Amino acid sequence: MLINYGKCGIGAIRLNLEVIGKCTRCGKDAIIDLPYAKQKLCKDCFNDFFVKRVRRVVEEYRMFKEGERVAVAVSGGKDSVALLHALKMAFPKQDTYAFYINLGIRYYSDHLEKKVEKLAEMVGVPLEIYNLKEKEEYTIDDFLITKYKNKMCSVCGTIKRNIFTLMAKNVGADAIATGHNLDDTVSTMMSLFFAGDFEGIARLKPVLKPLLPGQPRKIKPLITTPEIEDLYYVALNELPVQECGCPHGEFTPIKG
Ligand code: AMP
Ligand code: FES
Repeated sequence: MLINYGKCGIGAIRLNLEVIGKCTRCGKDAIIDLPYAKQKLCKDCFNDFFVKRVRRVVEEYRMFKEGERVAVAVSGGKDSVALLHALKMAFPKQDTYAFYINLGIRYYSDHLEKKVEKLAEMVGVPLEIYNLKEKEEYTIDDFLITKYKNKMCSVCGTIKRNIFTLMAKNVGADAIATGHNLDDTVSTMMSLFFAGDFEGIARLKPVLKPLLPGQPRKIKPLITTPEIEDLYYVALNELPVQECGCPHGEFTPIKG
């Protein structure tokens, strides 16, 4: 199986999943090698491994309880796509909502909206869409003519974080789940460390309690999941996912 993810050719992740021996768990053909877990897994055993880890992290950090409403922020990228699907597999009875913010980024935002709509239908969860242009009369692209033109991702991140809280409040969610993975967390930790921002490091928790009562908590069920495994999960389960990268994407050497 050949996977081509991401950046419209440039910087795309190309993976070739082929048989690498027998599955450590069931003896069928293995296609995923997880050296840190000393396991080679077939598709079914990998899915089981992935979903169980999500369930374990949610339970260990008490991310949400039975009967609570969970809003999943789905961008259409591999992490949040894998998150919504795996959360629903791990907690089929949980009251789950998906939401997507259409940031008005040329060709990219509409492309992703279609993918998220398809995924929500496939997984069977209601989807709320927030269209920045319709609600606020500006788009992320509008910042290209401002002094923030070289900091598009930071501007976008700040705007998104505010809308996350607003949307979770609109749907009455107790928790907002995002697709931040292990690689994101470690790279942010490194950047904060080199910047001497130790308070920032302390805030990189799996669960962030709200500043004010009544606001939703922020949770990261994929915080222990390596980034590449989100891609394996999305590809093996043929989930709808982004086929092009954000035109404002910045190269982040720290992640490498
Ligand atoms: P990023 O800040 O782009 O790395 O995204 C981090 C997480 O925020 C993703 O894994 C999603 O859970 C969420 N997210 C990012 N962009 C959007 C969006 N446009 N709509 C909904 N959720 C998003
Ligand atoms: Fe925000 Fe690319 S998605 S700048």
